[in-house]
Amino acid sequence: MAGRLGSIEAVIRPARDDDADAVSAVIQKALRETNARDYAPEIIDRIALSFAPAAVSQLVAKRTVFVATLEGRIVGTASLDGSVVRTVFVEPGVQGRGIGRRLMAEVERTARERNVAVLAVPSSVTAETFYARLGFRSVRDSFHGDERTIIMERTLAPPSTACDAPCVPGPERLA
Ligand SMILES: CC(C)(COP(=O)(O)OP(=O)(O)OC[C@H]1O[C@@H](n2cnc3c(N)ncnc32)[C@H](O)[C@@H]1OP(=O)(O)O)[C@@H](O)C(=O)NCCC(=O)NCCS
Repeated sequence: MAGRLGSIEAVIRPARDDDADAVSAVIQKALRETNARDYAPEIIDRIALSFAPAAVSQLVAKRTVFVATLEGRIVGTASLDGSVVRTVFVEPGVQGRGIGRRLMAEVERTARERNVAVLAVPSSVTAETFYARLGFRSVRDSFHGDERTIIMERTLAPPSTACDAPCVPGPERLA
């Protein structure tokens, strides 16, 4: 579904190890321009450090990480860590154009394939409305020091009962 500015057709693909620098750059930019509205500078600095290129490289090795590209350039990322959604970031210049939604559709598709029953996400304060639009509900707050996140969950139907045959996926099932 189109965002306020009209959606852009990003290509979603699994991340490779040599994407780490570009993924880190997107995260750093989103943290400093978007999350900085909701979190204190020292919190942003701490999170930014944890997503330096070497750290992102390790995450690509141990999680299922996706990237969104526009004309080959990485502009977004999202990952699945067991049943938990992590590290969802879209470059500020192309936010609001449906890229986050498409990344989450891929994460959700992967989770369903792995028979994840309940998908969870520790949401930033910044992204709570985004996840709510995708059907997640807020469960509780979580604090790492003074960094507040909101634990949100979405129940996934198992793949076998996701629809009656013949199965024609409706738009709501792509979210
Ligand atoms: C959260 C984020 C990933 C969303 O990506 P995006 O590409 O801008 O999102 P989309 O354009 O796909 O938006 C999907 C829906 O969520 C809504 N939405 C997205 N961000 C929103 C916001 N901050 N406030 C309200 N609604 C928002 C959109 O309006 C859209 O709704 P619709 O399709 O029903 O019209 C992006 O804003 C971001 O990188 N934020 C900073 C990083 C962050 O906090 N990430 C989450 C870490 S847990």
